[in-house]
Amino acid sequence: MNVILLGAPGAGKGTQATKLVEKYNVPHVSTGDIFRTNIKGQTPIGVVAKSYIDKGQLVPDEVTVEIVKNRLNEEDCQQKGYLLDGFPRNVFQAEELDKFSNVEKVVNVSVDLSKLLKRITGRRVCSKCGESYHVDFLNGKTDCARCGGELIQRADDNEATVEKRLAVYTEQTKPLIEYYEKAGKLVTVDGDKSIDAVFAEICEKLG
Ligand code: AP5
Repeated sequence: MNVILLGAPGAGKGTQATKLVEKYNVPHVSTGDIFRTNIKGQTPIGVVAKSYIDKGQLVPDEVTVEIVKNRLNEEDCQQKGYLLDGFPRNVFQAEELDKFSNVEKVVNVSVDLSKLLKRITGRRVCSKCGESYHVDFLNGKTDCARCGGELIQRADDNEATVEKRLAVYTEQTKPLIEYYEKAGKLVTVDGDKSIDAVFAEICEKLG
């Protein structure tokens, strides 16, 4: 199964990916997670990535494409396929991906952009396992229900950076909807329903 999760920042790609990888037993490849791991480890890639992510901009294509190409070449992806989350993010990346992998389906998680600022600025993530929460449903809790790790706010989840990320989405990532529609690979789900209802719709459309 070679599937892409497409959607604006905060549309729920990461939330759905966690559930989908469990159901379909397929590796979750998130470029955002890969960059955050590198930032934490202060690697050369992390240093470059941080300078862009903090500003809400895309990390340069030459860095990102190479990372994904190498990751998809690893044994687990070669055997089971992948669930790509956050890649591709512009037409150039999509064209590059087409050169080294056969994308089967693209799930566009659609949410009205005006709702996303609140979703993202209220997000808290587990510093240990990466599980995602929203302050509205935490009842003041500050630790992860899954592993007990400390819940933190991502550095790029402040209002100014989110505004920039949403603008970058509209300008560079949204055209991918048409790109994959033309390729006959796109399915769209309503990402404005409950997490479980979105998950059910994705599973139904993946068949
Ligand atoms: P990345 O980590 O990919 O961030 P993003 O695309 O901005 O997406 P998010 O992680 O913010 O949102 P999500 O859709 O996963 O939503 P979530 O499930 O957490 O990328 C970060 C940065 O890295 C980029 O800005 C860029 O700089 C760089 N980068 C990454 N990939 C790149 C690439 N290919 N090229 C270049 N640069 C790249 O949900 C959000 C919140 O909503 C949570 O609080 C959640 O609990 C809640 N929620 C989820 N679903 C629902 C629902 N149905 N109803 C109500 N609340 C919900």
